Amino acid sequence: MLINQLTHYAMNNHTPVWKFVSLLVLCCVLRSYCNAQASGQNAPQLGKASVKQVIAAMTLEEKAMLVVGAGRGFGPRPPAQSPAKRDSAQKTATQGPMIGQTEQKVPGAAGVTHAIPRLGIPAMVLSDGPAGVRISPIRKGDSSRTYYATAFPVGTLLASSWDTDLVRQVGVAFGHEVHEYGIDILLGPGMNIHRNPLGGRNFEYYSEDPLVTGKMAAAMVEGIQSNGVGTSIKHYVANNQETHRNTINTIVSERAMREIYLRGFEIAVKDAHPWTVMTSYNKLDGTYTSERHDLVTTILRKEWGFKGFVMTDWGGGHNPIAQMKAGNDLLMPGNPNQVKAIIDAVDNKQLDESILNANVEHILNIILRSPAFKDYKYSDAPDLKKDAQVSRMAAAQGMVLLKNSGAPLPFHGVTKVALFGNTSYDMIAGGTGSGNVNKAYVISLAQGLQNAGLQVEASLLKAYPAYLADAKAKQPKPVRGMFRPAPPIPQMTIADADLQQDAADADIAVITIGRNAGEGADRTLPDDYYLSDAEKALIKNVSGAFHAKGKKVVVVLNIGGVIEVAGWRDEVDGILLAWQPGLEAGNAITDVLSGKVDPSGKLATTFAMDYKDVPSAKNFPGKEFPDQAVKVGNRTIMPAEVTYEDGIYVGYRYYSTYKVTPAYAFGYGLSYTSFGYSHLKLSSPTFKGKLYATVIITNTGKAAGKEVAELYLSAPAGKLDKPVLELKGFAKTRLLQPGESQTLRFELNARALASYDTAKEAWLAEAGNYTVRIGASSTDIRQTAKFKLIKGTVAEQDEKALAPEVAINELRGK
Ligand code: BGC
Repeated sequence: MLINQLTHYAMNNHTPVWKFVSLLVLCCVLRSYCNAQASGQNAPQLGKASVKQVIAAMTLEEKAMLVVGAGRGFGPRPPAQSPAKRDSAQKTATQGPMIGQTEQKVPGAAGVTHAIPRLGIPAMVLSDGPAGVRISPIRKGDSSRTYYATAFPVGTLLASSWDTDLVRQVGVAFGHEVHEYGIDILLGPGMNIHRNPLGGRNFEYYSEDPLVTGKMAAAMVEGIQSNGVGTSIKHYVANNQETHRNTINTIVSERAMREIYLRGFEIAVKDAHPWTVMTSYNKLDGTYTSERHDLVTTILRKEWGFKGFVMTDWGGGHNPIAQMKAGNDLLMPGNPNQVKAIIDAVDNKQLDESILNANVEHILNIILRSPAFKDYKYSDAPDLKKDAQVSRMAAAQGMVLLKNSGAPLPFHGVTKVALFGNTSYDMIAGGTGSGNVNKAYVISLAQGLQNAGLQVEASLLKAYPAYLADAKAKQPKPVRGMFRPAPPIPQMTIADADLQQDAADADIAVITIGRNAGEGADRTLPDDYYLSDAEKALIKNVSGAFHAKGKKVVVVLNIGGVIEVAGWRDEVDGILLAWQPGLEAGNAITDVLSGKVDPSGKLATTFAMDYKDVPSAKNFPGKEFPDQAVKVGNRTIMPAEVTYEDGIYVGYRYYSTYKVTPAYAFGYGLSYTSFGYSHLKLSSPTFKGKLYATVIITNTGKAAGKEVAELYLSAPAGKLDKPVLELKGFAKTRLLQPGESQTLRFELNARALASYDTAKEAWLAEAGNYTVRIGASSTDIRQTAKFKLIKGTVAEQDEKALAPEVAINELRGK
């Protein structure tokens, strides 16, 4: 009967053969599923019976469906079951969850899990992404209102605040939107390492350093989850590029994995207990991360004590059975073939049902905590006005003042600004892809300045928007919707006479340089990492005209990842790195330019002098194997491989050890005031399990401000190779008035002293003298003190895992 109906449906809808086969597969699964539903009158109910009892009552089909998302190919949508106001939206929404039980609650969400009503198991809704809730802003058939969300500042900006309390606060507001839009799990934060500036998704991630990454992610997870919803820290792990992201085989040493790429995840898991972890698309040493038992079970669950569930990235990995065995509990977005493969594998004894039971248990334990299970009556009406203010405040706190020669900032005596650069009038709130947020508006810098009562040079205020509107109308439509940013619009050219006029009229020039990138592609060197010729000409011409009149020029960088700055920075007086600051962009930038907010951000990622200085430049994004390429439909699947020869020498660990001068060092950032560091004290001259360092920070300047102090540790030379220094702690002062001081305190434990000894699979703190260096950046150390570790210590013994099968020609310290 069901098969007949599906055949009929498929024919009427001109369903392609593959879809039809999927429907048939689904049909067989459904038959036994429906039998179970029918016999479910007295079945144990989730929440009333124990999880173990519920699992014992589940059929094999139900278990297989619970571990596979209800995303693609699960057949026609059921009649809507939701409140009347959502009826019409459900009928027309585009994603198709399941078979009679799961309504589409949240159009535009990334995925849903299967419901099993006879056991009281509801479906959960999973939604992107790291900088704000990504759902459809408009629902067909519902023209009465919109469903916008707040675009918060991107990860790179939040990390530059070095302020975990601030990030937690953003998380609290963000998680409230997740909850009020009917979502159970937010697919973020993204926390891969900035291994290379060209990484297309770097904007979603935090830093080149694992401590900053881990602490920021933990704060975000805590904030979001404080609302009673879940997070999914992603992408686990070594997913540091977008080129060939679904096929790339990443080869990394165990030490680099443990110290750099896994470390942030470890901190986030241990400190903040995310509900879920998302495995990445890439392979690690030949095996997809989602199929690696050592990553997903040995390290994540056993070593770190992770208690939630693990899901794949969307369509990630290859073999559902290997994924189940690895402990990757949920396959997203899910398709009927995966359900069938799992059922068959249990029937054929290729998959022990106890493994499936464990995966189901992990998922059920989280469902029990979900808003869906609690039947939370979400409002669909978060307070977007309030959250916009959180976004604006956070944005201003994470901006980094890179240059302020002759103090053009904060504005003084400025009433009229000559505002140049396309992006000044069309700001980039955040990157593209699943990290994009559908927001109601983005405040441009032109608007922001005017909102603060400043004038923007009228001729420019007229010319730029007209030019942009015209250029946008001519732009080709994006090929794959969200996955590619629109090609940048060439800079508007300004006639020399007009420029002279602007320089005569305005008090200062501000030029915005913008960059966008996102999922599916890495950035390019020409016209992206490096400025385009038109951008260079704009900076040169504007600076020439304004300097000739004794007026200053400031560049605002509205970018998601690092660009080249050394070649042009001498031409301008000030540079404010505004990153991609979310929907209040122009207001937040104006807050800093005007001096309403003192810039207190510092770089969580290095700006190199040139790309060739980047330690991973020689092997990014790796090599392709065209002779092994396979055609699938009209796509070519290209096998590719990248070897992390930079080892542990990522970012400042490399620049400091190899004495390569960066343009702007890790940890660097200026303020409108200045700070003194004094009285560094250690709790003991010898290390006995724990050690505390305190330092006094004093505002020695004339404006109120906050200072980020960074604690670096230099370990003694010993058996293990070590970077010259490594970040082991950081803290930010409160707003200090001129003359005011604050004592900051840092804690060091044995792990902070240790490096990873691959031969022993252990974290080893070697005996000798350690130097604590507290500074304003990785190259601006203000106070040092020494302590001694008398006897070498194993800070942690791990299990055998990870070792790559091929030898790597890794960098070693000098
Ligand atoms: C991305 C994930 C995202 C998922 C769901 C994938 O393509 O890599 O970060 O959460 O899609 O949209």
